[in-house]
Amino acid sequence: MGKIKVYGELPIAKTDDKLFSSFLEHLGRAIYGGIYDPEHELADESGFRLDVIELIKELNVDYIRYPGGNFVSGYRWKDGVGDYRPTRIDYAWRTLDLNKIGINEFSEYTQKTNTKLMGAVNLGTGSPMDAADLVEYCNFPGGTELSDMRISHGYDAHDIKIWCLGNEMDGDWQTCALSADDYGKKAKEAAKMMKWVDPSIELVGVGSSSCRMDTYPEWDRKVLEYLYDYVDYLSLHIYFENEGNEQDFLKNAYRLNNFIDAVGNTVQYVKTLKRSSKKVYLSLDEWNIWNYTRWNEAGYGEKPMNELEHAPKLLEDNYTYIDAIAFASLTISILNNSDKVKIACLAQLVNVIAPILTETNGRVIRQSIYYPFQLFSKYGRGIVLTTVNKFDDIEVDGKRESSVISCCVLSEDESNLTIFAVNIDMVKDHELEIDLIDLKDYKFVEEIKLESDDLYATNTFDDPEKINLQHSNKVNFTINPCSYKVYRYELED
Ligand code: AHR
Repeated sequence: MGKIKVYGELPIAKTDDKLFSSFLEHLGRAIYGGIYDPEHELADESGFRLDVIELIKELNVDYIRYPGGNFVSGYRWKDGVGDYRPTRIDYAWRTLDLNKIGINEFSEYTQKTNTKLMGAVNLGTGSPMDAADLVEYCNFPGGTELSDMRISHGYDAHDIKIWCLGNEMDGDWQTCALSADDYGKKAKEAAKMMKWVDPSIELVGVGSSSCRMDTYPEWDRKVLEYLYDYVDYLSLHIYFENEGNEQDFLKNAYRLNNFIDAVGNTVQYVKTLKRSSKKVYLSLDEWNIWNYTRWNEAGYGEKPMNELEHAPKLLEDNYTYIDAIAFASLTISILNNSDKVKIACLAQLVNVIAPILTETNGRVIRQSIYYPFQLFSKYGRGIVLTTVNKFDDIEVDGKRESSVISCCVLSEDESNLTIFAVNIDMVKDHELEIDLIDLKDYKFVEEIKLESDDLYATNTFDDPEKINLQHSNKVNFTINPCSYKVYRYELED
């Protein structure tokens, strides 16, 4: 018998709504053939697919980061506004971009999906002036050349509140990658100018693009020494892959905890160094499961320039049952770190490593990872309480850790309490007891589970519900190997 102990008097933090954010990049069929498909019978007057909009709405996504990703580091934002829309080579993904969708159309899209736009500026080929110009175009009310240009294009100010200062500038794959010192200097000047144009915006500095980078965590320390006074968040990106050792794959929530701790401590170090009273939070603005070895081996990025296509199938992972379980454990890690992480963007949202998969001009399905994101977004908002997991332990990179990972979220009005649990043990099931300590009286109302005997089951267009959630109003305190459960409670009358 194992136990999840929940401590009502030990809150970790109130979750920020921005934790439930996502990401859409001009990459493969994310935009073209994904959200935008004017030939589709369900396209609206702007060419956006209504069935895809409905599935995004069901996920209750807060912000959508746009337009990249690697794409942004070669993007000329003026190509995507007004009447003249040139076709350009996208260096990041070796494709052709037709520029039919730009910042104005995407801002409309966020209204249609009840989301908000998190912008990203190009600090690869772009200059600080280009970045400030984009903020002026988007946010300045009127009376300047760029804001009047936007008005002439038919749009009121978009009032985009959060901006990423480039993307993964530490990676050699990035168009015009920079050293930490060069990035720190450039991003600081861009930040100053962007905030001069609109002092109300919040900025995200580029941290390490993964904990596997040779420059991590020195990159983070160095860039923050330039940026500490100018940014509100430091980014971190992480993708996990099933390399064939399923038991090891399921341990990654612990690795995410360690990454967040290390970057959080680096932020704390620079704060102390600067004798600053300001708090900089973390923006986990790309996270997911991604089978990137397959992607790298396929050599997609090496196409000769004369063979470039527009919107080819790229990075279209078919998510399995075990991917969904690993994914669920990552959502638990994000919640348990909600004192440090205030933004988290699931990368990405449609077609490209995404919970939603479309056929161009055809059907749409929810992939396996759709479901844990949906539960995370629906029941994960509120006060995260400290939980202690008393289960058989399992070895993770030389440390003994619990084989059941859990977290507990109390809704702000205290009417609902939700426990999320994943058994990462591939072999043993666990009987569990839930001990609610220093909390009012709550009654059990629902159990929701994700369980399958087939680790590699996937949803397909012909069998779209093979993996789905199972709901029950009877509680069952056994949690099977490699499975996910959500226990919901309501305050007793
Ligand atoms: O999300 C796919 C890619 O992963 C993004 O463009 C990039 O930022 C990261 O390397």
